[in-house]
Amino acid sequence: MKIMVVGGGGREHAIIKKIKENKDVTEIFALPGNGGMAKDATLVDIGAKDIEKIVEFAVENSIDYAIVAPDDPLVLGCVDALEVKGISCFGPRANAAIIEGSKVFSKNLMKKYNIPTAAYEVFNDMGKALEYLETAPIPTVIKADGLALGKGVIIAQTRDEAKAAVVSMMQDKAFGSSGDNIVIEEFLTGPEVSVLAFTDGKKVAPMVSSMDHKRAGDNDTGLNTGGMGTIAPNPYYTKAVAEDCMEKIFIPTMNAMNNEGRTFKGCLYFGLMLTPNGPKVIEYNCRFGDPETQVVLPLLKTDLLTVMKAVTEERLSEIDVEFSEESAACVIMASKGYPQSYEKGFEMTIPEDIENNVYVAGASLKDGKLLTNGGRVLGATAVENDLRSAVKSAYSLVEKIHFDNAFYRNDIGAKALAVLED
Ligand code: AMP
Ligand code: GLY
Repeated sequence: MKIMVVGGGGREHAIIKKIKENKDVTEIFALPGNGGMAKDATLVDIGAKDIEKIVEFAVENSIDYAIVAPDDPLVLGCVDALEVKGISCFGPRANAAIIEGSKVFSKNLMKKYNIPTAAYEVFNDMGKALEYLETAPIPTVIKADGLALGKGVIIAQTRDEAKAAVVSMMQDKAFGSSGDNIVIEEFLTGPEVSVLAFTDGKKVAPMVSSMDHKRAGDNDTGLNTGGMGTIAPNPYYTKAVAEDCMEKIFIPTMNAMNNEGRTFKGCLYFGLMLTPNGPKVIEYNCRFGDPETQVVLPLLKTDLLTVMKAVTEERLSEIDVEFSEESAACVIMASKGYPQSYEKGFEMTIPEDIENNVYVAGASLKDGKLLTNGGRVLGATAVENDLRSAVKSAYSLVEKIHFDNAFYRNDIGAKALAVLED
């Protein structure tokens, strides 16, 4: 089977490594992939948003199965366009990807179907938004409607900060047209849990839970990033919480999307907050999370391609999606300065004997040398019997990897360990 994976980060590398385990897979193409994946996939110089070229490539190369991993192509209708040409795909169609593509859509969906989430108001008029903020409870949360590279969310601690956020989104267009509509919502508190779930619109099969570490610095200080590390499973996500989420959030979301004529097939990501009033949805993503995937997939025992194809063919109920009882930890190594400005082009050394544990997010190959080519450069993942050992092993992997200006958090998993060992 010839497989095509659209996307080029650490998440895609984790998907590719897992797909490779299937004996029927003869070739994997990554569009565009990155230099750090060259041993695992054939790199194709087509950007993940170039839907026309992606489809053309798939047809010309008789691709048997396509996995569309990032939010942008999903929201742009990459799966729809591939399906028109008869190519079987993993990922939601555009009309379902909107669950991530529009926060206004997802908030209204949750309200309509009584799915627990933060209380909110939607605004398309800046004056009205500013007026609302005169009396809104503080802190408050301002969200741009559309995709904004994970940056369109501002937690405002004061009224002035909230107003400034509204002006920057609606007047200064800090996130382009994503800020034409905004959501102002209730500030929630509690531990956060990420749950990725396979769904074919008939069954939801949640994967092992995980915990992201979004801030750049130790002890959750510094700027928000795309994620500086993950652990799985998330100790806050007990069996009782999982059952509650299944009943009140996962199944109702699947049913809601069906009811709206927007059946979601693919990986649905639930960003949850375990509030004093029960679990609530902070966000939906229409795809695998990054870097959650880098700890979740290594724990998957069932063959990934088999599960994905079952989703595509709406046969998920025929399959038991099984996870290992072990724990995983992933430490992201970034380039100094990330998430703001950083330099690229530093030579990387990754010892061959640990390559299997490394998911490269941003690298280029030049004259046989691997050079850093992004803010988040790679993730080192370890799987062990318990979380403490997994964290320790992940950091010993990090010590064996070198590139100039590397930086990483030193406390990935610390909060989870404190909960477990309390
Ligand atoms: P998002 O881009 O939607 O994942 O939001 C980024 C982060 O902002 C989340 O991971 C939360 O930590 C935080 N956040 C989003 N919405 C809320 C909320 N209503 N209350 C508190 N924190 C929030
Ligand atoms: N790690 C959060 C995300 O993938 O959006």
